[in-house]
Amino acid sequence: MEKRQELYAGKAKSVYATDDPDLLVLHFRDDTSAFDGERMESLARKGMVNNRFNAFIMERLQAAGIPTHFVKRLSDTESLVKKLEMIPVECVVRNLAAGGLVRRLGVEEGKELVPPTFELFLKNDALHDPMINESLAETFGWATPEQLAEMKALTFRVNEVLKQLFADGGLLLVDYKLEFGLFKGQIVLGDEFSPDGCRLWDAETRNKMDKDRFRQGLGGVIEAYEEVGRRIGIGFD
Ligand code: ATP
Ligand code: TYD
Repeated sequence: MEKRQELYAGKAKSVYATDDPDLLVLHFRDDTSAFDGERMESLARKGMVNNRFNAFIMERLQAAGIPTHFVKRLSDTESLVKKLEMIPVECVVRNLAAGGLVRRLGVEEGKELVPPTFELFLKNDALHDPMINESLAETFGWATPEQLAEMKALTFRVNEVLKQLFADGGLLLVDYKLEFGLFKGQIVLGDEFSPDGCRLWDAETRNKMDKDRFRQGLGGVIEAYEEVGRRIGIGFD
């Protein structure tokens, strides 16, 4: 496999073509953004940590029968993935109230959500990723009802696998965002799963161990990501 030209540079990752039209290289950079790119910083080791974190999680999900784009880790900061036609809709599941839900509905942070909630957001930085619903997604052609049903079912299956995985490490999976795409017509999990796109709290102290440390200026961002990784069995050396 040969890495070719850069196709896209996002806020945290760069995407490269390869000599195989079905495969891409994802390069996890140290760049960290919050508030739709309004705040950008480089955090040493973040690319390596998120690349390893994502590889570990994607392999677990694949083993649990969830189709993912992940093929293999190529280096500290790069992974080979299947090239998806991305669906511009973000799927969010919440087990505990935090972030946008607390702001929007005024519920208490940490309230247990039974059953867990499912929300859709449009992937559009200029519009600040507005919340949407299935009717809007269908009408504007972002995804079909069948695709949305499959994405929702897969997002909840991911919850079952990962809630347990993190619980075994003494962590609460508070909420997370997934992105899906199409590979030869099939819905496949894409992008990444890392502490950049989810909330993880220590089960005892409820300390935040995810990107909220960056958003809220709490410091120790990458140290927290590494601690989460160690607790679930990821080595970073
Ligand atoms: P955001 O941070 O809101 O996800 P971004 O575009 O800045 O947006 P990055 O993670 O920096 O995000 O960029 C990676 C880009 O690659 C995203 O647009 C993502 O949707 C896309 N992507 C991820 N996996 C695949 C894949 N398997 N095939 C094609 N594109 C992908
Ligand atoms: P949410 O609480 O809606 O947003 P905010 O981060 O503004 O408080 O986010 C729920 C979870 O989904 C949280 O773990 C962050 C993640 N997420 C992203 O990573 N990117 C996104 O564009 C969205 C909408 C959510």
